[in-house]
This record gives sequence, C-alpha cells and structure tokens, in this order.
Amino acid sequence: MKVIKSIPALKSAVRRWKSKNRTIGFVPTMGYLHEGHLSLVRASKKKADVTVVSIFVNPTQFGPKEDFRTYPRDFERDAGLLEKEGIAVLFYPDAEEMYPGGYKTYVEIYDLQDKLCGRSRPGHFRGVSTVVLKLFNIVRPDYAFFGQKDAQQAIILRRMARDLDLDICVEIMPIVREADGLAMSSRNTYLGPDERKAGLSLSRSLRQAKTRIDAGERRPDVILSAMKEMIAAEPLAMIDYIEAVDMDTLEPVKEISEGTLIALAVFIGKTRLIDNMIV
Ligand code: PAJ
Repeated sequence: MKVIKSIPALKSAVRRWKSKNRTIGFVPTMGYLHEGHLSLVRASKKKADVTVVSIFVNPTQFGPKEDFRTYPRDFERDAGLLEKEGIAVLFYPDAEEMYPGGYKTYVEIYDLQDKLCGRSRPGHFRGVSTVVLKLFNIVRPDYAFFGQKDAQQAIILRRMARDLDLDICVEIMPIVREADGLAMSSRNTYLGPDERKAGLSLSRSLRQAKTRIDAGERRPDVILSAMKEMIAAEPLAMIDYIEAVDMDTLEPVKEISEGTLIALAVFIGKTRLIDNMIV
C-alpha cells in the first residue's frame, strides 16, 4: 500500500489508472477506522478495479466548540488495517495541503444542509461538501462509498454529485453495529461505561419503532413520541432531535411509508451520537 500525502502525486497515480481504463472506487474517512469504515472499503474493492481510501480530519466541518483537536487519531493502526484489506493507495494529506493560505471556495447544498444535524451544527455540511468535492476532484472516482450511519451526509453528497454532474456513482452502505446494537462510530471511544449503556437507547428506540411500524402504525407523532419517551428515561441522555423525514427532501412526513428516514441525534453527556433507519 502506498501512502500519498501530496495532491499532485495522487493525481498522477489517478492519471496512470485512467490511462489503463481502470475503474476507481473511493472511501473518504477521518480515520480511527472501525468495521463500519472497513465495510465501505470492502464494498469498493468488490466494485472497482482500484480503491483509494483517504484519511483527513477535515477542520472546516467542525464548529468552533466541537472536537476537532481531540478527535481520535491513530494513523499507524489505520494504515495497518487498510494494508490488511489490500488497499492500493491511502491518501493522507495535511490541512495545509488541502487548504493552503488564501483558500476561499466553499460548496453549499441548499437547504438540505440546514435540516436535522445542520440545525445544531451550523456550517458542518458546508465543510463536508467542500472537502468531499475537493477529494472527488483529486481522486476522480467512478464510485464513492458512504455509510447510512451519516444518512444526511450521504443524501447531501448524492444530491451534490447529481446537481454538479459529477459522473460519480454515490453508494450508500448499511449501518454496521456493535453486537449490542450501538452504531459503530469513532466517537464511541469518548463514552464511559455508563454512557456506553445509555447510548444503547438510540438503537433500542429504533427497534421499538420498527416493531410498531411493522404492526401497522403509520403516524409519525405516535412513533416519535414513543422513541422520545424511551430515550428520555435515560438520565444521561439529552435529545437533540428525533424526526421522520422524506429520504430526498429531508422534510418531515405526514405519514410513515416505505423509504421514510427516521433519524435521531442524542447527547450522551458531552458526546453527540446519531443513528437512523430507513423504513
Ligand atoms: P467518518 O466519520 O470517518 O466516516 C467515514 C465514512 O464511514 C462515512 O461515509 C460514514 O458514514 C461511514 N461510517 C461511519 N460509521 C459507520 C457505520 N457504523 N456503519 C457504516 N458506515 C459508517 O463521515 C466522515 O468521516 C466525514 O464527514 C467525511 C465524509 C470523510 C468528510 O470529511
């Protein structure tokens, strides 16, 4: 596996692959890899001739009071995991490489970026869309893989690829969970033992919602208030939002139907966890 830190070096590897008509799969990450990330890597390896993974903790997607500086990082471990997966190239730029002095250009995806997580993380999706478009222009992938774990992010990026005619197939892969149901996340490492237990309330509330929907319940208020009640019973949990929305517009639905996205964000102590399901 080659670790490439410079944009021109990566672009020239891409030109070589393109000249041989190899298809390129791309998995952007912020590192501290877990099985969720690796599931995307495996999907890419299956679909494309060569797979590029990037690790870049993107400063522009963190708010001033968020965890950019303390975000978990372990490059050696990540590189070892990717080496084992048989990845061709790991792109590992630093912030100066991606945002050199004088940087001025940002991408905004109206108004999807302002809903759900966008309400409590202003500017977050602007940072995500900007860095991912930059990465797309550097890697020029045929396929890009994102997790449903960050459903709003994946929906926004798929919208961006369509709106800007990127010719990139955005693939959204299922949520990978711990054995007890907690959605895997690099941020789970912040949770103490009691918080870890309280964090299970997110997936538990989704399972309960699924049972009710399977039994025929279609009213969003009934489903969402039962979820709220379950999570509010956890003293360490503070709900940011729980919503049932349309998968494309992220607008709240009047009736739950196939394709409705039920998404939630909950603070467990200082850690903000997200989870979701698509009906
Ligand atoms: P990061 O949080 O490292 O996630 C990288 C990719 O892994 C995202 O597409 C995310 O949805 C996916 N992922 C994370 N946890 C997952 C899980 N439990 N199951 C399945 N997929 C999972 O998301 C980002 O980084 C950044 O915003 C990025 C897109 C790299 C832009 O900076």
